Amino acid sequence: MGLTRAARIILVGAPGVGKGTQTERLIRKYPQLSSISSGDLLRDNVRKKSPLGIKAEGIMKAGNLLPDTVMLRLITNELKVRGWMENVMPLTLNSSSIAVEQPEEDISADFETSGLTSDDPSASFILDGFPRTASQASQIDKNIDINWVVSLKTPPSIIIDRICNRWVHAPSGRVYNTTFSPPQVEGKDDVTGEPLSRRADDDPDTWKTRLQKFEETSLSLLEHYDKKGVLWSVNGNSSNEITPQLVKEFERRFS
Ligand code: AP5
Ligand code: MG
Repeated sequence: MGLTRAARIILVGAPGVGKGTQTERLIRKYPQLSSISSGDLLRDNVRKKSPLGIKAEGIMKAGNLLPDTVMLRLITNELKVRGWMENVMPLTLNSSSIAVEQPEEDISADFETSGLTSDDPSASFILDGFPRTASQASQIDKNIDINWVVSLKTPPSIIIDRICNRWVHAPSGRVYNTTFSPPQVEGKDDVTGEPLSRRADDDPDTWKTRLQKFEETSLSLLEHYDKKGVLWSVNGNSSNEITPQLVKEFERRFS
């Protein structure tokens, strides 16, 4: 089924709530959609040992958030690389050369010149994990008219068990779970056959810090989008309860 208008979607939710899982399911159903996962972009930089990756590694391992300026540059650059922002300026950055120590006041100037997102349905995307502070949201508002914000809600007591069983294919970001969605061959990625690994931030203590950061930042982030009338919340104890509701609402809005 085709899209009738461009979908510019953000998924918001606690660490391990299923943002990556729901994104993958929506993309499988609607191949016109693509996604950017801020966490996957950062982990890619960590793997490549880029200047950004070297800075990000310790912060992520401790369960803390990267500075807003760094994240804004990273995501804007990725939107341009993918051609989802109009008036694309000549590319001078790539995610491995993102300035990591930029003064806060510099970013608004960048955003005023970086162009608007395209309205064509082919420029439809899901942002998984960005923005995650009200300040990141205010900055991207200048260029990206987000038209649907999905708040995914599952009790933390259920999420923590999932995190302990999560395995990932690091190069692609594909996610498995030994009890919920195991790979066809134990320890191997279904598509490439390459080995799976554990995420460095997936131990219970780090997860608790990540949850605490989420609780500190998400209220004002969600309020920001509620005021704009684009917030939609969905509750469920499992991704299988959430997916049908998500798909139904997506279709009502975009197809
Ligand atoms: P990020 O990668 O975004 O991590 P997160 O928000 O902590 O979320 P996760 O990826 O852990 O979980 P998810 O919701 O995608 O769940 P999943 O589908 O995998 O960010 C990592 C770090 O990067 C941050 O801590 C921060 O340092 C930094 N960062 C990123 N963005 C930033 C930003 N904007 N600003 C500043 N810093 C930023 O599901 C979890 C598991 O559950 C999987 O194993 C899955 O298979 C399983 N599962 C799913 N559904 C079910 C089910 N129904 N039953 C059982 N298991 C299930
Ligand atoms: Mg994820």
